Amino acid sequence: MTSSAAALLVQPAQADQPGRGRFITLEGIEGAGKSTQCDTLAAALRALEVPFLQTREPGGAPMAERIRALLLDPDSRALGATAELLLMFAARAEHLAKTVQPALAAGTWVLCDRFTDASFAYQGGGRGLPQDTIAWLETLVQGELRPDLTLLFDVPAELGLQRAKARSAPDRFEAETLEFFQRARQVYLERARQEPSRFRVLDASLEVEVVAQQVCEVLQTFVSDARIAHP
Ligand code: TMP
Repeated sequence: MTSSAAALLVQPAQADQPGRGRFITLEGIEGAGKSTQCDTLAAALRALEVPFLQTREPGGAPMAERIRALLLDPDSRALGATAELLLMFAARAEHLAKTVQPALAAGTWVLCDRFTDASFAYQGGGRGLPQDTIAWLETLVQGELRPDLTLLFDVPAELGLQRAKARSAPDRFEAETLEFFQRARQVYLERARQEPSRFRVLDASLEVEVVAQQVCEVLQTFVSDARIAHP
């Protein structure tokens, strides 16, 4: 696809545009404590008086939430990997158009529980779909938009699954095998190695309070740098 074709689909506000909000994503396999730490981040942003909205993927817009329900429903077990990937990106297109892009353009920061790194980890690593197909969809749906900061909550798959199982009845993804999550974790770690300036990897096997403290430190530095770049 040419870059002009991608630009027709989305016209991302760039991070270096003054007044644009920052896009922060949280990633990790099941049981990494990501959702709890998302609330920690939200509280820290509030304390720093940064205007933000908190959202999630799949979901975060009315049609995207309907797609989420389909994707997570254990009764959707017959859904094939390619259809699953396309539904993830269909939900993402809606989420970007209705929620994320308008917020960033208005100067509101966006705190998103999962984004496209999850497609690379779960549909790429977990399901074995080609990474370049996912990268192609990323360009189609997002143009040049990428997160400004990604916190990866890293936990061994055994511990993550153990925690997730203790929590509630498994959804369609939580019912996957240990090997599926081991592959997803490896893809997350590899992506973090490839993009060290965007990723911060946190050891999510530590106590919740210790991880929360590290989250606050990462955020404080990121907010100060953003304020220096665009006071
Ligand atoms: P969560 O909101 O509980 O994290 O559940 C969302 C599930 O969807 C989680 O198991 C990961 C999965 N997922 C993907 O497989 N690919 C994606 O692109 C996204 C955003 C989530």
